[in-house]
Amino acid sequence: MKFKTSDQIATIKPYVPGKPLKEVEREYHISNPVKLASNENPLGFSPRVHDAVNQQMKDMNRYPESSAYILSNKLAGKFHVQPQNMVLGNGSDDIISLLAHGFLNPGDEAVMPLPSFLMYEISVKTAKGVPVMVPLADYATNLEGLVDAISPKTRLIFITNPFNPTGSTITWDEFNEFSQTVPDDVIMVVDEAYIEFVRDDAVYNSLTHPLQDPRIVTLRTFSKAYGLAGFRVGYGIMDAEIAEVLNRIRQPFNVNSLAQVAAAAALDDEVFFTKSIQATHEGLDFLFDALETMGIRCLPTQSNFLMLDLETDATQVFEELLKQGVIVRSMTSYGYDTFIRVNTGTKQENLIFIQALKRVLKR
Ligand SMILES: Cc1ncc(COP(=O)(O)O)c(C=O)c1O
Repeated sequence: MKFKTSDQIATIKPYVPGKPLKEVEREYHISNPVKLASNENPLGFSPRVHDAVNQQMKDMNRYPESSAYILSNKLAGKFHVQPQNMVLGNGSDDIISLLAHGFLNPGDEAVMPLPSFLMYEISVKTAKGVPVMVPLADYATNLEGLVDAISPKTRLIFITNPFNPTGSTITWDEFNEFSQTVPDDVIMVVDEAYIEFVRDDAVYNSLTHPLQDPRIVTLRTFSKAYGLAGFRVGYGIMDAEIAEVLNRIRQPFNVNSLAQVAAAAALDDEVFFTKSIQATHEGLDFLFDALETMGIRCLPTQSNFLMLDLETDATQVFEELLKQGVIVRSMTSYGYDTFIRVNTGTKQENLIFIQALKRVLKR
């Protein structure tokens, strides 16, 4: 290209999302493929969301309310914080990017696990910062390694709990020990995109005592447990001074009106939420049993997905499963050449996946 890209941006590899359903239908001439690749909610979303969105449609000639007043207050009430502690985003992706742009000068460092959710690296590089990546230890976040990687240039540390893609977690004790060794001027971004699925009380949850430590920025999303991935709503809870910076630099209408009402309605429907979490746990239990019977090793998970070791080329299995109409995620790009990641589907989708995998692996 004759135009010169910024040096940092030239090193960014594009984010590869889970293969979309429509693309598989077009490419493989398959109707109704099963998608278990993006950790979405297979049950859809609350019927209350339909009603709220239909109601909002008549006002879609108007700009959204920039403060997302209703949603912001609802969330603040739920977690016993003030609206000044909230930042809403076009997905939590948006807030990750705001953090990088708000707190990194060129050359400043952000420490994160390797592999990690790719948007950390992309956002840091886009903000002209430097990602410092610390390999996982036994498929889990290497907290000591993250601390060792801190330098005078470190401004942000990203941790993900539960971790994507391995499903591993950080306990209360581990987090407390870690946070005591992080310098006072480093922001700890705790991405809890999958926290609603956790069954083990030993797992750290940053909103049990919100705002106890001003260095902690909690990120959450409506894309997973609430089933609103297509609407794009995420939120952050943090010290008011950090929130003020992010709210100053965000796009004024970053959460559109349909997304605002959808998320508010989803929060009100405890019944659908509980059903989703239960279905996820039942799905995981079914998948673990079925895979164990097939002699396949799965990593323990507290999330809505699991990583499994096929002991053969994962990309090839991914391709073969696609031909059978099942979309999973090959972990080759994360450096795990024999692993795939699958999220729980409906009962029927889980069964279809297991049957397809049996055919592909000839077991
Ligand atoms: C760990 C993690 N963080 C953040 C996100 C982004 O979620 P959102 O849809 O809110 O942008 C994801 C999505 O897959 C994720 O896995």
